[in-house]
Amino acid sequence: MDPQLAFVTFTLAVFLQGCMSAAVPQVKSAGPGFFRLMLGDFEITALSDGSVEIDPQVLMPEASPVALRRARQHAFIPLPVTVSVNAFLINTNTSLVLIDTGSGALVGESKIVQNLRAAGYRPEDVDHVFLTHLHGDHMGGVKAAGSPGMIFPNAIIRLSQAEADYWLNATNAANSSVIMKDNFAAAQDILAPYFAVDRVKPFNITEGELLPGFRAVTRMGHTPGHTQYYVESGGRTIVVWGDITHFEWAQLPDPELTVAFDYNEPEAAKARSELLEMVVEKRHLVAAAHAPFPGIGNLRRATPGFDWIPVRYDSEPTRNTTDDYVAVTGTTVSPGAIGATTVKSNGSALGASLVISIFTSLGVLMA
Ligand SMILES: *[C@@H]1O[C@H](CO)[C@@H](O)[C@H](O)[C@H]1NC(C)=O
Ligand SMILES: *[C@@H]1O[C@H](CO)[C@@H](O)[C@H](O)[C@H]1NC(C)=O
Ligand SMILES: *[C@@H]1O[C@H](CO)[C@@H](O)[C@H](O)[C@H]1NC(C)=O
Ligand SMILES: *[C@@H]1O[C@H](CO)[C@@H](O)[C@H](O)[C@H]1NC(C)=O
Ligand SMILES: *[C@@H]1O[C@H](CO)[C@@H](O)[C@H](O)[C@H]1NC(C)=O
Ligand SMILES: *[C@@H]1O[C@H](CO)[C@@H](O)[C@H](O)[C@H]1NC(C)=O
Ligand SMILES: [Zn+2]
Repeated sequence: MDPQLAFVTFTLAVFLQGCMSAAVPQVKSAGPGFFRLMLGDFEITALSDGSVEIDPQVLMPEASPVALRRARQHAFIPLPVTVSVNAFLINTNTSLVLIDTGSGALVGESKIVQNLRAAGYRPEDVDHVFLTHLHGDHMGGVKAAGSPGMIFPNAIIRLSQAEADYWLNATNAANSSVIMKDNFAAAQDILAPYFAVDRVKPFNITEGELLPGFRAVTRMGHTPGHTQYYVESGGRTIVVWGDITHFEWAQLPDPELTVAFDYNEPEAAKARSELLEMVVEKRHLVAAAHAPFPGIGNLRRATPGFDWIPVRYDSEPTRNTTDDYVAVTGTTVSPGAIGATTVKSNGSALGASLVISIFTSLGVLMA
């Protein structure tokens, strides 16, 4: 569309909206939680399980309260702090893969299934569930409360061998802290109906692709078998990174910041730093379980650490885009540089003609 015409249309729409008023009750609920983009030939749908209030100081007891508050305020985050719980559905055109599943019946009100349906799919359509790890907010959605309760009756559950070995081991459960004991019990319970029909298939990281375009990389740290899934199509990669961050506004500026329930805090910090370096270097997209919904974005070096750049919304996800930014690093723009050669030369003439055409259009409308 001609840019001038587009601007006039937009202005008219805003004007007309202002003319209408009605005393209807405020609705006050969030919209359906799904977000869609294409990655090469793969369709990626972020699904929201909801968002939960979490006190960051409780999860990061060693963080300086003053610095933590400042980091929060710097990122415009109000109290209480909310944390999104996201899962990612990938339609390769031959398989439907769900990476993580939210909390299900384990915590509060899970919204994965309603959002999966809102996004145009049914739970029985899912062929593979890949779990990043066996914490409740990632595995919980595979099973409804009570039994048998398989939410994804046609899916095979994949997870790393190390993760299965740790959480499904009675010795480890008996030796665990009180707070983690529930998670051992939940892992058993959640997976039981899938084990019963031989649909749990742990993998060893020495394997190649799990499916064409899907590679798993397991890094002990947050849990013994915490796994990232690298999904690639059409020369583009998105790294579905599970719990590499819980509080991106604190752990990207300071990747050393660990959470109290990391299985091995130094290894969790090391895994985070390595992965952040890699995705910045390769300019991969990231899909994060706990970044603000949809949890998809890119990373950029900042001082200190890294910045999160949320993915841009496109109402037409299948638009043929050219990602020429992927190969570009270190681009900076100095003040005034963007306007110097183009806008300043005849911007005011263009502006004046736009204003005239807007008023002409309004006049026609009111007449
Ligand atoms: C996806 O599948 C449909 C139906 O099987 C087929 O027509 C289409 O060509 C496929 N698209 C790609 C990119 O493979
Ligand atoms: C993974 O495979 C390697 C090589 O076959 C083997 O040495 C290792 O024990 C396996 N790890 C697990 C957790 O099964
Ligand atoms: C359970 O884990 C312990 C170590 O924590 C190990 O010695 C034992 O062999 C494991 N049991 C099974 C059945 O793998
Ligand atoms: C039990 O847990 C403690 C610390 O949590 C650990 O040091 C010890 O090795 C564990 N014992 C077994 C048998 O796994
Ligand atoms: C997408 O755009 C590129 C560059 O403009 C073009 O080469 C390619 O053929 C287009 N692909 C489709 C499917 O339209
Ligand atoms: C803007 O300026 C350029 C160069 O001075 C000129 O060629 C062009 O016609 C101008 N466009 C408008 C819309 O005034
Ligand atoms: Zn989590």
